[in-house]
Amino acid sequence: MSRNFFITTMGCQMNEYDSDFLAQSLIHYGLSPVDDPKIADVILINTCTVRAKPEQKAFSQLGRMSAIKRKKPGTILGVVGCLAQQHGADLIKRFPELDLVLGPRQLCRIEEFMGRIDGNREQVVATDLEFIQYRPISCRNYFTGKVKGYVSIMEGCNNFCSYCVVPFVRGREVSRDPREVLSEAENLVLQGVKELTLLGQNVNSYQWEKAGNWNFSFLIREVAKLDGLLRLRFTTSHPKDLSDELIQCFSELSTLCPHIHLPFQAGSNSVLRRMRRGYTRERYLELIEKLRTVSPDIAITSDVMVGFPGESQDDFEMTLDLIRRVQFDALFSFKYSDRRGTFAEKMDGKVNEADKASRLSALQALQKQVTLKKNKALEGHQFKVLVEGPSKKGGQLTGRIETNKIVNFIADNKNIGNLVEVTVTQAFLNSLRGRLAVE
Ligand code: 5AD
Ligand code: SF4
Repeated sequence: MSRNFFITTMGCQMNEYDSDFLAQSLIHYGLSPVDDPKIADVILINTCTVRAKPEQKAFSQLGRMSAIKRKKPGTILGVVGCLAQQHGADLIKRFPELDLVLGPRQLCRIEEFMGRIDGNREQVVATDLEFIQYRPISCRNYFTGKVKGYVSIMEGCNNFCSYCVVPFVRGREVSRDPREVLSEAENLVLQGVKELTLLGQNVNSYQWEKAGNWNFSFLIREVAKLDGLLRLRFTTSHPKDLSDELIQCFSELSTLCPHIHLPFQAGSNSVLRRMRRGYTRERYLELIEKLRTVSPDIAITSDVMVGFPGESQDDFEMTLDLIRRVQFDALFSFKYSDRRGTFAEKMDGKVNEADKASRLSALQALQKQVTLKKNKALEGHQFKVLVEGPSKKGGQLTGRIETNKIVNFIADNKNIGNLVEVTVTQAFLNSLRGRLAVE
């Protein structure tokens, strides 16, 4: 009887990409996917440690999955991704049930490690950060039925923002060979994927000089040429590297969706400086203006945090002011949390939890108003929606308009995977309701 595997994923889209990568490798190794860890022979926990909260979640999943293994000792249990990188062999001391601790740069060796575990019940810890040029195992039909797909174009980050653990757990920035990126993208489109998102911690600094001089704008223009691709997106952009050439792509490429996720993190220049972000609030606002000049209806989303060490009430007011000025379509907002080994961890002026909490709720209340106002302005208008599948609540289909907002509407399942015209009838905070404009 063939053995089964189960992978849990948390965190960013990069982790979803990594889990697909692992799943295809395990299928190639001879296992079959299941969606219940209790019946799995192999359980992998794909983790995120960018903030304290996901790290706690990763630990509690480790606890839960270890308990499953204690009841079924034959199970192979692995922790992969950023938590594995950060804690390495210490995780085995804390969770002796673990067979595998695999850092983000070692995922491409999963089959080799599975062989070692299967062969001699070895406990494997692999956390080398040396980059290995890899090619994902492509399982035929793995993506069949999926409307959206991801392609990683680079790994790691060189920016060392003072609060961020990513350069330590995902390693230094390395771009992938554009020929690999293009063939992976093409393969996804051939399997029926209609929308691609190019992924990297900082896609704007993509660079490949070994075969021609490729930058991100060059790469995105090539991917946009793929036959059968309806929509193209990318994430994440760093304001300090957002070039005019890339901004221009929004007017040039018809498949490139008018949406950019451009984290600003803070609205005060003194906080931005201590965060080592490499731009000022004025520069950020100038970029927003440029984007809106080239693409007037572009949706702009962002990440922001409150309570960075030394953030005063005045600094925080500058963050609120920036939010009012930009009018983001949506914001992901967080309380600053110390991350081990970062520069900010050692800074003075830590903000207490109560202040962080009240700043976060003031910020979120403001953004709620902005998001709702922006969404309400869409009522009565017609948009092209890429239909993704049945909606969560059921009875409806769900999809997104070009600016990435979710729309739920009633239509036949045969529309899944197609672009349809939908009129927005009602706007909410996190989604829109609509009706098919043309039956
Ligand atoms: N504390 C709080 N938020 C953080 N982020 C990254 N590091 C931290 C930290 N130490 C947030 C940033 C980033 C997002 C992915 O997580 O806003 O853009
Ligand atoms: Fe972290 Fe800054 Fe790199 Fe983003 S750009 S991953 S915040 S170090």
